[in-house]
This record gives sequence, structure tokens and C-alpha cells, in this order.
Amino acid sequence: MKKIVANFKMNATVEETKRYFINFLAKVDSAKAELTFCLPYTSLATGNYFLKGTGIKLGAQNLADEDEGKCTGEISGRMLVDAGAEAVIIGHSERRAKFKESNKTINKKIKVALKNRLDIILCVGESLTEKNTLKTLETLKAQIEEGLKGLYENELENITIAYEPIWAIGNGKNATVKEIEYAVKAIRKVLTDDFSEKAGKETKVLYGGSVNIKNIQSILKAKGIDGVLIGGACLDANGFVNLINLA
Ligand code: PGA
Repeated sequence: MKKIVANFKMNATVEETKRYFINFLAKVDSAKAELTFCLPYTSLATGNYFLKGTGIKLGAQNLADEDEGKCTGEISGRMLVDAGAEAVIIGHSERRAKFKESNKTINKKIKVALKNRLDIILCVGESLTEKNTLKTLETLKAQIEEGLKGLYENELENITIAYEPIWAIGNGKNATVKEIEYAVKAIRKVLTDDFSEKAGKETKVLYGGSVNIKNIQSILKAKGIDGVLIGGACLDANGFVNLINLA
């Protein structure tokens, strides 16, 4: 079964989340894919209320790199679990760019998430400049190696890698199947070299970046891809149900 992660980003109030799930849950066939909704912090309680017992996972989009203390404005892994989250996105390119999250910070966040037994969706991906200067592989290698530094191989079972080329996010210009396969092969090679053959083969790798109803089927056929991470196309409940039906 393919894995589909919905990233709401900074969208939906509590009331809008409520209306979304009433509509979505009435129509979705949740057996079509392994689904996770990564919601804004303020919608987690509502997400938990609706998703509990449905087999659909609840996730957040970020967490603090410490578990408690002097960290004004942050939310810890412990708090996420308490709010019902089972998963968390770490290292999304919007956070790397806007909030200057380094691979070192991301590594700390991954360790905190593991400690709290959260499933992790680690986002990696090159910028347009890196792509144009043929630095894609170098970028991916550094993001994975530094992001997963100090982890034990068995901890990879809780980690999914999302290949999200920055140039393909939120603009309708998805990467081609060939480009996806090239990057996924490289990601799996880093995992094989740094951990084991098993890690390279069995770690789940998703693609994210302008996935929609028209391209999802060909993207899911890309070699080495286990699913997709969806931003814009998950915000309309009816549209998202249609998209899931194609998985
Ligand atoms: P998009 O976003 O599907 O709107 O391109 C994907 C993401 O940033 O996770």
C-alpha cells in the first residue's frame, strides 16, 4: 500500500478543520492508502478527535529540538504526543529556508522525535541553483548524513524520507519521473552506504512537490517511490478523496 502524507502547512482554523474532516471522512476509502495528516498545532486536538480509531494517522509539521524548558513559542515532542500526534514532519524546505534550520538542528529534532516515539517524515531536496549547478546529489547526501548522524540502524524503521525538490514545491511544476528516480536512487545509496543494504532497500521514500490528480499515478509508478507528500492538493477534501482513489 502506498503512503500519502497530507501537509496542511499554515492553513485551516479549528472550525475549518472540523468541517474538512466531517466531509473527508464521509467520503474517503481509507483502505486505499496509508494516510497521515500533518496539521497546524492549533488543529491537532480537532484532528485527534476525528481521526482516532480511523486508522488514519495524525501528525504535526515541526517540533522543538528540546523536550521542555526555556523555549518560548516552541512545542515539544512530548506535547505533540500528548495532543494525539503519532508523526511529525522534520526539515521541510520552508522551515530550512525561513527559519534557518540547519542539518544539525534537524538532527537534534529527529533525536527528540525518536525519543518520543513519533514517526518522522524527514524532508530533503535541492534548490534550483543546486540543481542547475549539478549539486543535487551532494545536497541530498549532506542532508541525509547530517540529519541522521548518530542514529542506530533500527531507528530508521521510524523514519520516512520525503524527496522534495524545492523548485517543484507549490508551483505546479512537479519533477519528472526520471528526475525522481535519479534522486531516489541516490537517497537509497546513501542509506545503504551509511547504514546497510536493508536500510537502503526498506526505508520508505516519498516524493513531494506539486503532486496533483493529473500526475499522481505516474509519480507513484516511479522506481523506488513508496508514496507522496502532498501540500496544496490536500486542502480541498473532495479533491483529496479523488486523489487518494487514484493511489
Ligand atoms: P505542494 O507542497 O504539494 O503544494 O507542492 C508539498 C510540500 O511542500 O510538502
